[in-house]
Amino acid sequence: MDGNQERVVEMMKIILVAGARPNFMKVAPIVRELRARSLEYRPDNPTPTTNNSMLSWKLVHTGQHYDYDMSGSFFEDLEIPEPDHHLEAGSGTHAEQTAKIMVEFEKVCAAEMPDIVVVVGDVNSTLACSVTAKKMGIRVAHVEAGLRSNDLAMPEEVNRLVTDSISDYLFVTENSGQENLLREGKRPDRIFFVGHVMVDNLFYVRQKLNEEKLGNSEVGKLKQRLGDYAFLTMHRPSNVDDPKTFGGIIDALNEISREVPIVFPVHPRTRHQLNINSFWFSDSVVLFPPLPFKESLYLWKDALFVLTDSGGLQEETTALGVPCFTIRENTERPVTIEDGTNRLVGTSPEGILAAYRDFRNGITKKGRVPALWDGHAAERIIEIIIAELLP
Ligand code: UD1
Repeated sequence: MDGNQERVVEMMKIILVAGARPNFMKVAPIVRELRARSLEYRPDNPTPTTNNSMLSWKLVHTGQHYDYDMSGSFFEDLEIPEPDHHLEAGSGTHAEQTAKIMVEFEKVCAAEMPDIVVVVGDVNSTLACSVTAKKMGIRVAHVEAGLRSNDLAMPEEVNRLVTDSISDYLFVTENSGQENLLREGKRPDRIFFVGHVMVDNLFYVRQKLNEEKLGNSEVGKLKQRLGDYAFLTMHRPSNVDDPKTFGGIIDALNEISREVPIVFPVHPRTRHQLNINSFWFSDSVVLFPPLPFKESLYLWKDALFVLTDSGGLQEETTALGVPCFTIRENTERPVTIEDGTNRLVGTSPEGILAAYRDFRNGITKKGRVPALWDGHAAERIIEIIIAELLP
């Protein structure tokens, strides 16, 4: 008898979920790691991970973000393969979107019978797929667990709390994540401080940026023309859905742009609000549609400073040492303030302008890169999953 036939071969099936723009940066390094461990990544070609075990995986795109600007361009830039399953959930109210994803994801889980579902971040897809999997008795791993803004008006905070409360494996990016989970009574042996997959992705893409090619593109020419500039992103419902808050922020931006031009790729939610309100931007605020990952990185990495209400950009600016002003009252990512270059400036025009004046007067934070933000988080995550599931 062939020796191989005597082995008990265990097959571990992983389903990795991505749904919205900020998820794509987080799944890309996990996909790369899974691919690096598999000669062929499709389950019909499982690859030995240890002497007697096999690893296979599939990628699910929920379709929460669906158009080229918000999804397709990221798959291209970040080298993510075509998903094995596309749930085509699309837009809707929170309940509609979450429900559509749950119904479709349940069918995928029933067909694939994975051993573990890996979800990332804090979007509606994260919540929908973690709850669906858990109710089917499938283990759930949450990448970017434990972050807390303590602001339940943020849909993401609800998604974080629910997902963490039912996850079997909690992969945290910063110390506060660990502390929050322990305070909420999670078992210490379920919490793994692994660093940040988004930083893995950032370092990987930065090192592959083709500066020459980008220099000849529209954004490259703009960069040369502007010289010094600021980079802005804004899409949080709390900032853009209320015309009074949004109007105040725009006043502050116009004021800043009198001295420093601002490059502003506009998120669809924000575009919608701009269309229905009669806001006015100075000529020194340059509006774009949402930019692909590489073009966006090419611009913000050399900006004088970044203004944002995004979760991810607070962390990415800290990882590259770019000054960041966060237009929010709170952050679930305190390490970017304690260790990094981030400053919370609030949402009032006065707060935003005070931070800008400080910056002009030379009051800036140097910052350092937080612990384990070293480009190897995805490796650690897959090592841990293999060790836990395939002893
Ligand atoms: C979602 C996430 C948020 C994340 C953000 C990044 C939740 C609760 N929120 O918020 O955490 O920071 O994505 O973008 O999951 N739209 C398009 N094209 C698309 C996708 C959306 O035009 O490909 C439009 C939608 O029709 C909707 C608006 O953009 O009008 C907002 O999209 P939605 O996914 O509902 O929420 P986001 O604000 O993007």
